[in-house]
Amino acid sequence: MPSWNFEQLIDQAKKDFASVASSSDIEDLRVKYLGRKGLVAQIYDSLAQASPEEKPLIGKGANDLKKNVSELLDQKKGSPSLSAAAKKDGSCFDITLPGVAPAPGHRHILSQTMNDICGLFERLGFAIFEGPEIETEFNNFTALNIPVDHPSRDAFDTFYLKERDLSTKDRYLLLRSHTSPAQIRVMQAFKPPLAVVVPGKVYRPDAMDASHSFMFHQVEGLVVDEDVKLADLKGLLTNFCKKFFGENIKMRFRPHFFPFTEPSAEVDISCYICGGKGCSVCGRKGWLEILGCGMVHPKVFEAVKYPNGKYTGLAFGMGVERIAMLKHGINDIRLFYENDMRFLKQF
Ligand code: PHE
Repeated sequence: MPSWNFEQLIDQAKKDFASVASSSDIEDLRVKYLGRKGLVAQIYDSLAQASPEEKPLIGKGANDLKKNVSELLDQKKGSPSLSAAAKKDGSCFDITLPGVAPAPGHRHILSQTMNDICGLFERLGFAIFEGPEIETEFNNFTALNIPVDHPSRDAFDTFYLKERDLSTKDRYLLLRSHTSPAQIRVMQAFKPPLAVVVPGKVYRPDAMDASHSFMFHQVEGLVVDEDVKLADLKGLLTNFCKKFFGENIKMRFRPHFFPFTEPSAEVDISCYICGGKGCSVCGRKGWLEILGCGMVHPKVFEAVKYPNGKYTGLAFGMGVERIAMLKHGINDIRLFYENDMRFLKQF
C-alpha cells in the first residue's frame, strides 16, 4: 500500500524552491516534481495499488502538491503570462528589478534666456508675437528702408531661397537675417497703440567660430503710439538691463546707424568680468555691446501705410546667445548647439 506524507512533500518542495540560484535550477525542480517521471506522476501511478478508501486521499494530496509546486514555479519565473512571452522571443525580463528612473529634463539655456527676456517685457504689458523664419525680401529689407545696394542684401550676407515673382523688385524668399521683419508684420496686422516682443531664430552665412554661428536667436521689441519718445526708449532699456543684469550694471547708449531707425544707438553694459576696468573679454574697452535700438524711421511707417506723421515708435533687437554668454560667462557660442549634457546640465 503506497503511503505518502503530503505535508512533508510540500515542505520539501518549498525548501527546494527557496534555494534555487539559476533558471536551470528551476527547470531541474520542474522536472523533479512535474516531469513525466516526476514525483506527482509517481503519486498518480501509485493510485492503481491503493485501496478504495485511500484513493481520494492520495488524489487530493497529489493535486495539492501539484498546485503548490506550480505556484512556486510561477513565483520564481515571474507571472505565467510573462514567462510565456519570454519563451516566445527567447529573452528574459525580470519584473522584480527596480526600473530606470527617467532623469527630469529642463529647458535649454537659450530657451530659458529667451523666456526671461520676454517675461520682463510681458510684465510691462508687451505682447509676444512670432514671425516666420522664411521671409519676403520686402519684409526683411525693403520695408525696413534697407536700400538695394546695402551690403546686407548681398548674396554672401543672406540665405536666399527660390525666386518668387520676376515681375516685382522683391522677388526672393530668404531666411530672415534679423527679427526686424516681424515689425512689418505686426504693423500690417495691428493698429497702434502696440507693444510687442518677438523671439526667434535668424540666419546669416557666417562661418562657425567661438563668436559666430549661421543661426542664432534674437528678441525684437517694438512700441508704436502717438507720442513715443527717445526718453521712453532709454527708460525702457535701462529698466530691462538693470532687471536682467543687476541694479549695479552701468550702461551707455552709443550713437549708431540702422536704416530702419532714426536716431539709432547701440547699448553697451559695463563688462561683467572686469567691472569696466578693461580685460580680454571686453577687448580692454570695459564695455560690452548687447543690443541695437532706435526710433522707428518714418519710411518704415510709410511702408506699412500708417498715416503720415501720426505715430512715433521705438524698436530694439538683441542677440540671445550674446546675452546668455555675458550673463553666465560662456566663452564659445558653439557650446549652445552641441547637445553636450555636461554643458547643458549646468543651467
Ligand atoms: N535688426 C538689428 C540687427 O539685427 C537690430 C535692431 C533692431 C536695431 C531694432 C534697431 C532696432 O542688428
